[in-house]
Amino acid sequence: MTGSSKYTVRNQDTGKEFQLESRPGTVGPDVVDIRNLFTGQGLFTYDPGFGSTAGCESKITYIDGDAGVLMYRGYPVEQLAGHSSFIEVAYLLLYGELPNKAQLAEFDRTIRMHTMLNESVLRFFDGFHYDAHPMAMVAGVVGSMAAFYHDTTNIADARHRDIFAHRIIAKIPTIAAAAYKHSLGQPFIYPRNDLNYCSNLLHMFYAVPAERYDVDPLAAEALDLLFILHADHEQNCSTSTVRLAGSSGANPYSAISAGIAALWGPAHGGANEAVLDMLEEIGDVKHIPKYLARAKDKNDSFRLMGFGHRVYKNYDPRASIIRETCHKVLTRMGGNQPLFELALRLEEIALKDEYFVEKKLYPNVDFYSGIIYRALGIPKSMFTVMFAIARTVGWCAHWREMITDPDGRIGRPRQLYTGATRRDYVAIEKRG
Ligand code: SDX
Repeated sequence: MTGSSKYTVRNQDTGKEFQLESRPGTVGPDVVDIRNLFTGQGLFTYDPGFGSTAGCESKITYIDGDAGVLMYRGYPVEQLAGHSSFIEVAYLLLYGELPNKAQLAEFDRTIRMHTMLNESVLRFFDGFHYDAHPMAMVAGVVGSMAAFYHDTTNIADARHRDIFAHRIIAKIPTIAAAAYKHSLGQPFIYPRNDLNYCSNLLHMFYAVPAERYDVDPLAAEALDLLFILHADHEQNCSTSTVRLAGSSGANPYSAISAGIAALWGPAHGGANEAVLDMLEEIGDVKHIPKYLARAKDKNDSFRLMGFGHRVYKNYDPRASIIRETCHKVLTRMGGNQPLFELALRLEEIALKDEYFVEKKLYPNVDFYSGIIYRALGIPKSMFTVMFAIARTVGWCAHWREMITDPDGRIGRPRQLYTGATRRDYVAIEKRG
């Protein structure tokens, strides 16, 4: 954190100058405050993809992409992965501090007591074809929750904001499980209040009415770790979508549904599914050079899925932890060892290739996560849904921060217009 600095901008043609001032954060780059740039100087800034633009002030998550640092409310993700639980991390992200025993017990109980869905919501699934993509079903059903809570969600009321967050965090696993069961043609399995968050999810996924199902604690433990690592990630595409949608005062369930839609893209959360498709297509170590050549070929749209990141120009700290967890899960539970071996070799070869080294393309959170999901029996089509379940916590934390931000206003970016200048309408008879 440094003090603010003053910058002079000088038009070299006219000699006209104006001042800009920077603001420091507690850690990380300072920001140059350009809020009055247009009103004062008649200028916009230009930053497609917002690679150099801070759209808000936040206290939730900090990333240092060069150092490979990720912190939730100041706590390194490695420490949370080693000592915390997803429910405790959810409390931390929402409320800013680690809970004491009583607070954690109350939060955990609140979440467990809100996992059931209105029976009418379950009937929405009858309208989907059996092979509908689960992300489409989940986005649609989460959006429909705005229909149930349109007149009981006063976003100006702190208690209502709490209830919204508790409800959606509690219900998104139930919605995900319903989408999965619908795709199997199996009956929906109701949540159980005696099970913890991840055990309940696995139970709703894999139990059937015909027999007893006991959740494997190792599977629940691995899932809990994955959810901690996916819970939040600063102003990523889907979180920024939730903030922008929510900034108009839209129903928060609709804002979360918009976030799910944005996460689905293969450049974002959809990459975990695309990585498995890619590994299965590569098939064997001997084919790796051919696919690396395709990834480097500007005329080939193929990209090495699970590699590269807008912010991390070093190893994604989450990928390191997930890779180590792969070893444990596959060793204890079996599963796609050959696929994991192929992924390890692909990483090893790519990280020695000058294209990937020069462009600082490292494995990201999506490169290994699908291998664990598959070892837990989760089908590829559900991988991004798993990401959405965990990221719902981050989306809720950022939505709450945006709604209560004293500087908050509706998001409305401007543009560099390069279209047609003014011209008059031409009657069709006079057109060429
Ligand atoms: C997530 O933002 C977040 O925090 C996201 C996330 C989260 O937790 O919310 O971390 C989750 O979305 C992880 C990313 C998952 N996506 C993928 O794995 C898809 C593959 N990766 C790429 O599509 C890409 O790396 C992005 C989308 C992740 C980042 O894209 P950028 O920042 O816009 O970078 P870029 O496309 O400008 O790439 C820079 C250069 C380009 O080459 P040049 O035009 O400079 O010659 O690197 C090349 C790209 O062609 N490049 C790749 C590549 N990724 C970038 N070349 C081959 N394979 C790749 N994977």
